[in-house]
Amino acid sequence: MINRAHPNVLPSRFILLILAFGLLLMIAILLIKDRNGYTNLAEVALKLRGSEGFNSIIPTVTNHKNVSVKTHKGLVSLDELNENVFKKLGYDILEPTIPVPTLRMTNEPTCETVFSEWKRISELPQPEYPPKEIPSDRMDEFLLYNYTAMNKWYINDKNSDKGEKPRNWDKLSDMIKWPRQKLGGLAYGTDGVSIYDAMKFHRLDGKSGVVIGSMQPWVEVSALVHGASKVLTVEYNKLEIQEEFRDRMSSILPIEFVSNWQKYADKFDFAASFSSIEHSGLGRYGDSIDPIGDLREMLKIKCILKPGGLLFLGVPLGTDAIQYNAHRIYGSVRLAMMFYGYEWLGTFSGNTEQPNDLTAERLHSRNIFGMTQNTIVLRKL
Ligand SMILES: *[C@@H]1O[C@H](CO)[C@@H](O)[C@H](O)[C@H]1NC(C)=O
Ligand SMILES: *[C@@H]1O[C@H](CO)[C@@H](O)[C@H](O)[C@H]1NC(C)=O
Repeated sequence: MINRAHPNVLPSRFILLILAFGLLLMIAILLIKDRNGYTNLAEVALKLRGSEGFNSIIPTVTNHKNVSVKTHKGLVSLDELNENVFKKLGYDILEPTIPVPTLRMTNEPTCETVFSEWKRISELPQPEYPPKEIPSDRMDEFLLYNYTAMNKWYINDKNSDKGEKPRNWDKLSDMIKWPRQKLGGLAYGTDGVSIYDAMKFHRLDGKSGVVIGSMQPWVEVSALVHGASKVLTVEYNKLEIQEEFRDRMSSILPIEFVSNWQKYADKFDFAASFSSIEHSGLGRYGDSIDPIGDLREMLKIKCILKPGGLLFLGVPLGTDAIQYNAHRIYGSVRLAMMFYGYEWLGTFSGNTEQPNDLTAERLHSRNIFGMTQNTIVLRKL
């Protein structure tokens, strides 16, 4: 008797074997490729997570002792950070990905709370000059229990006449014709080109978005150039938008935006912020001292994005540090909290149009207090 099924069984087993072999080979290649001393299962997991369809074979790493990230204190294990920083601030490591661990929030505030707390803190009475020192009772929160380096760089931009004022909002019809380098590089040189490139790569056709903090309209115009249909700018200064662009562009003051947040909840396809959030809560611009002012901004943006909406984020990257009160520099520890609720899609440097893989090596390519201002693209989960 001939088993008719038989001839088909062998080839299909064969294919399975080849597939399994292929997977093993891929994992081996990924392991061998890493030469920066951070090689571990978590990094393999991180890389596999990026490629569709491999989720089921991600190894679960429960021991975070062997996974480390760089801080100004040197390499620190994720276990140590989880106990000494993340848990104290209401987070917990979900996956030991590097260079940025993936966190969950143990008790995520509702959007109602996020916005009402922001409003309450922003309305606290402020001193005449931005505080020269971090209040001692807030030190641990600002310095992430000493896992953040600190030096001084005091700037008073409160009601300062020297401070930057909005410019070029009447030149939109010229700007929209500018080439990549000229438009992207308007305010921040090559660093700024990174947001232009990120929007070119993740096209915004027909999408509606919000830009947080903007003196010159280069981010807005970059969005329009790459297909966006509507852009709302949230800015402390009143903006005079060139008339023929008022069908596509508008602006609103932060307090008005926050007071009407329900109107904007889950509304936007994308959000963009370049060189703004790293200042939140440091008092430099006359804002209230708030150790987690930047994390609050990230939660606010999460509230107003549609699920799957994109955030184009430009903040200084390096090893975790604060140059008080000028800005924060974001490394593995703070980025982990910033990224809560988002998936990290890619990083653009402005040097090439393609995204790069922000490895630990690249993140820490400068010394402590050194930084690169790239554009990180995140997707709301
Ligand atoms: C992992 O950590 C343990 C102690 O926590 C240590 O004994 C072991 O050598 C480490 N393994 C590697 C591969 O680093
Ligand atoms: C951080 O460092 C300061 C100064 O060295 C010290 O007083 C403080 O207790 C440290 N905080 C923690 C949580 O270790």
